[in-house]
Amino acid sequence: MPDIKVVDVYKRFGRIVALDGVNLHVRDGEYVCIIGPSGSGKSTLLKIIAGIIQPDRGDVFFDDVRVTDLPLEERGIGMVMQDILLFPHMNLWDNVTFSPLTRGYNREIIVNIGNEVMNLLKIRADKKAYPSELSRGEQQMIALARALASRPRVLLLDEPLASLDAHAARALRYELRRMVKELGLTAIHVTHNQEEALSIADRVVVMRKGKIEQVGTPLELYLMPKTPFVSRFIGGEANFLEGHVAQKYGNKAVIELRNGTRLCTYTHLPQGSHVLVAVRPEHIVLMKKTKEIHGENMLEGTIEDKNFLGACIRYVVKTKEGSLIVRMRRGVISFRIGEDVALRLDKVVIFEYPKEGLLKAIAYE
Ligand SMILES: Nc1ncnc2c1ncn2[C@@H]1O[C@H](COP(=O)(O)OP(=O)(O)OP(=O)(O)O)[C@@H](O)[C@H]1O
Ligand SMILES: [Mg+2]
Repeated sequence: MPDIKVVDVYKRFGRIVALDGVNLHVRDGEYVCIIGPSGSGKSTLLKIIAGIIQPDRGDVFFDDVRVTDLPLEERGIGMVMQDILLFPHMNLWDNVTFSPLTRGYNREIIVNIGNEVMNLLKIRADKKAYPSELSRGEQQMIALARALASRPRVLLLDEPLASLDAHAARALRYELRRMVKELGLTAIHVTHNQEEALSIADRVVVMRKGKIEQVGTPLELYLMPKTPFVSRFIGGEANFLEGHVAQKYGNKAVIELRNGTRLCTYTHLPQGSHVLVAVRPEHIVLMKKTKEIHGENMLEGTIEDKNFLGACIRYVVKTKEGSLIVRMRRGVISFRIGEDVALRLDKVVIFEYPKEGLLKAIAYE
């Protein structure tokens, strides 16, 4: 429901800078996912939006009203936090109905709300069970039910599906998004699982070392990462190659890699620039090598390794530009270890070569 703005927020814990100048605008009714390495400040940001901790500097606005000093109870928030899930001394039912009870609703309404959210989340555990008797995954479901029972305007979720098995987590992520949209809530969902984020978010926020590295739709982050870090973090593995801009025609460019391979692509960088080329494993096509390879965006190589990934096969291919990881749909065509192949780089992203070096540019910490 509300539009949320985080403006210039800083937060330190002793010597650790947890948030280092964060600005974020989450629009009314939006489902935003925050991803980033461990320790990048995701939970701290969520807790500041919730009002659980205070920023050292900066402000939080809900619908342009400053809420920085407003206590948690007055922000209209339902939340599932990473560390504290439930009241340990209350049974499942009392946990779920805690918020309607404290608001003084009559018994019938409380029972209706409790049953409604439990049905919505398909919770079948014994209502009299205590949190210690439930699995971590069940506790997360109860925490989610409790958050929804508070009839919030904003849902803040910190790794809400992390303890569920892969199958249940996948089913529930779509359900979560559907519920949020149906109820018209604004949701911010922190997750380690970039696939989860890409599949349900309207926009994804990538955090790194207390800063926001990029905000964009899943497709924007996937196709147009702004930094080598985002390129590596989104979509799993990435290949990085070094080269320079050999020729320029408007925005079109020919990139020459270190060992002479030429790539036709686009870049705003001027001729002569030292560049880093990122290629996703699924954007490389492997072909049988029939004759000598000529032409742009083509390379030759030898299959070094092969792993079965279910729907795909992951190959490691040795080329003169280094070893490249390639992911191909299974069943199209298959290659043996040791086989000579041709590679075509279908889609590449060009970055200015990081001054700090590649390893530092893509490091998590
Ligand atoms: N209460 C606290 N006291 C001291 N340091 C803290 C506290 N809370 C967070 N930190 C530190 O601030 C940094 C950011 O922590 P935060 O919990 O926000 O990271 P995160 O991105 O949520 O990580 P994770 O993915 O592991 O949950 C970390 O270095 C963490 O150790
Ligand atoms: Mg966290």
